[in-house]
Amino acid sequence: MKITVIGAGHVGATAAQRIAEKELANEVVLVDVVEGLPQGKGLDIYESAPIERFDAKVIGTNSYDQTSNSDIILITAGIARKPGMSRDDLQATNANIVKTVTEQAVAKSPRAIIIVVSNPLDVMTYVAKKVSGFERHRVLGMAGVLDSARFRTFIAMELNVSVEDVTAFVLGGHGDSMVPLPRYSTVAGIPLPDLMDKATIDRLVKRTRDGGIEIVNYLKTGSAYYAPSSAAIEMIESIVRDKRRILPCAAWLEGEYGLNDVYCGVPVKLSRDGMEEIIQIKLTPEEQAALNKSADDVRANIAKLNI
Ligand code: APR
Repeated sequence: MKITVIGAGHVGATAAQRIAEKELANEVVLVDVVEGLPQGKGLDIYESAPIERFDAKVIGTNSYDQTSNSDIILITAGIARKPGMSRDDLQATNANIVKTVTEQAVAKSPRAIIIVVSNPLDVMTYVAKKVSGFERHRVLGMAGVLDSARFRTFIAMELNVSVEDVTAFVLGGHGDSMVPLPRYSTVAGIPLPDLMDKATIDRLVKRTRDGGIEIVNYLKTGSAYYAPSSAAIEMIESIVRDKRRILPCAAWLEGEYGLNDVYCGVPVKLSRDGMEEIIQIKLTPEEQAALNKSADDVRANIAKLNI
């Protein structure tokens, strides 16, 4: 197993570290345009191997030669948000970056599965799919796992219970129109609406929706990376270990949920081949309307692309 991580910034370097520590690959290749950055971070991670006890080679490089025949390509290249910026504000800059890195990476690894983390997530995943020409089961975006993890954390904090017993579902695009589903969110199997009043649920949903900006406002110079890298690694682990986990991912829809030709967060079964199946759950008319609106927002942004 060989995994390439493109972008050796906060998300990319943390993801490379987590991949190595979990031994999800024999070889992790960290790529960035900044000279020395991936080499330095890659070597630094590699030098933790004897202490953390992992057998994974970590290589940093500015060229794609060493990425050849990767099984998975994780794209984290791009600029991150600063206070006052929405994810959509990143679109024009990051579209060009994601286009360039995808072209170079797929030329060396034509059979890879691509996972995109760069924002605005759903639109950048579309860019990677369009540029690579890969089938939809090989191009996915990481958003729902992160949004769900945030929701789960806030639920556990509110009820003062272990996060281990909390499951949550968040669908839709990774933006202001994301669609958290309290009915499908549970604590030890008990649906959330049986445990909290509506006002509390609404407060946690709002905090989840604003989860990214809450971190940006604290950091001021960049955006979240610990939880985003964990979320990407959960997807990668399900693929590498062929676990068939059902995780919310940005997937290219061809009629599922009544939506076509758009990337949108939906529950996906992830196996060694990437997306094995999109799981279709029953939505109320309000939930479906929220999902439609979220998809419309992504579509409008895709239309603005100039690639
Ligand atoms: N090729 C390779 N790497 C690139 C390129 C490129 N063409 N352009 C930029 N990069 C690199 C930068 O040099 C930087 O090291 O991408 C890295 C981005 O790292 P950070 O600025 O630390 O941003 P990070 O917090 O990692 O976020 C990256 O993920 O969560 C999203 O919104 C976030 O779009 C952003 C992305």
